[in-house]
Amino acid sequence: MTDRESPGEFEGYGGRYVPEPLQEPLDQLAAAYDEVASTDEFQADFRDHLESFAGRPTPLYHAKNLSERYGAAIYLKREDLLHGGAHKINNCLGQALLAKRAGRDRLIAETGAGQHGVATAMVGALLGLETEIYMGKKDAKRQAMNVFRMRLMGAEVNEVTRGGEGLADAVDAALEDFAANVDDTHYLVGSVVGPDPFPRMVRDFQSVIGEEAREQFQELARTGDFPDAAVACVGGGSNAIGLFHAFRDDSVDFYGAEGGGEGADSSRHAAPLAKGQDDTIHGMKTRVLDDDVEVHSVSAGLDYPGVGPEHAMLNAVGRCEYTGITDEEALAAFRELSETEGIIPALESSHAVARAIQLAEDGEHETILVNLSGRGDKDMETAAEKFEL
Ligand SMILES: Cc1ncc(COP(=O)(O)O)c(C=O)c1O
Repeated sequence: MTDRESPGEFEGYGGRYVPEPLQEPLDQLAAAYDEVASTDEFQADFRDHLESFAGRPTPLYHAKNLSERYGAAIYLKREDLLHGGAHKINNCLGQALLAKRAGRDRLIAETGAGQHGVATAMVGALLGLETEIYMGKKDAKRQAMNVFRMRLMGAEVNEVTRGGEGLADAVDAALEDFAANVDDTHYLVGSVVGPDPFPRMVRDFQSVIGEEAREQFQELARTGDFPDAAVACVGGGSNAIGLFHAFRDDSVDFYGAEGGGEGADSSRHAAPLAKGQDDTIHGMKTRVLDDDVEVHSVSAGLDYPGVGPEHAMLNAVGRCEYTGITDEEALAAFRELSETEGIIPALESSHAVARAIQLAEDGEHETILVNLSGRGDKDMETAAEKFEL
């Protein structure tokens, strides 16, 4: 391992902590990204795919019933309505279009909840790229339908049996594949994690969420104003950064809801910002769970021991407050949004809804914007085991 640091640092977090053979392909990717992604031609192609394939713009919805119940105006950014059922498609389209231009004909990806794997399989099929997905066996079991979807769209799914059979183990396996196949393969990282340029690249591809929401909020709320608070769940952190980025210079308070599992003070959670330490993992310097903590969340997409380095920075400088939302709190919010609004959120997104409810109850914010990052269809089996209806 080398500890060479590169651009893409966030106040000392981030960088590029990878073995030497990965430096050059990452340099090439960073160069391709810097040269191509900002061109009008690429942006037009990307925006066109976001509209015609993914279904953007997504609505901003005033959740009136929930708002009435808790006494704050709660708005949902409906990323759950995107093709595939989650925000993941935004980033997948951006990276796959870039990979194709860079002459790569194979995509690999890791996935936890399966949403990123499904989105990668979708863009692989769309653009005619061979696609291979790594998924921990534990996750493949609880998200069996997503595994089937990926296979249906022609992707090969590798169930990873090492370690805890979760997302972190899938990342390790994907990194090994990437190191062995750098010439023809693009590693389509699914969140704002990993070595540079991934955290800034994925953020830029996801920032369409906040850009749209910022405009829509001003129209919908008719105040010409911004929401008092923006709330999102944080696994790796891509939907959260995607929401926050457009509001970074506005007076909008940011709240991140991590996977609190059995409680951030327990030995089973996935909340490295609420309770963790500085360390390096998967090529980046960031916040990581303490050694004696077992990574756990009821939602597979939040079940990750690290977090994107930009969140580590936002946490360190106090720009965003991160809280571990427990499995129980998330499940209650999952049920509550279903009952009050007729919208079944993904278990990941339910963490953000739970945090928004807490904030509304605290009474310090009049308007709260929540990123509803995905829909709950994939979580029906988990929910059916928890609730007797
Ligand atoms: C619906 C949904 N929301 C959130 C996440 C967490 O990812 P991130 O923190 O990168 O947005 C996932 C991950 O699979 C997801 O499927």
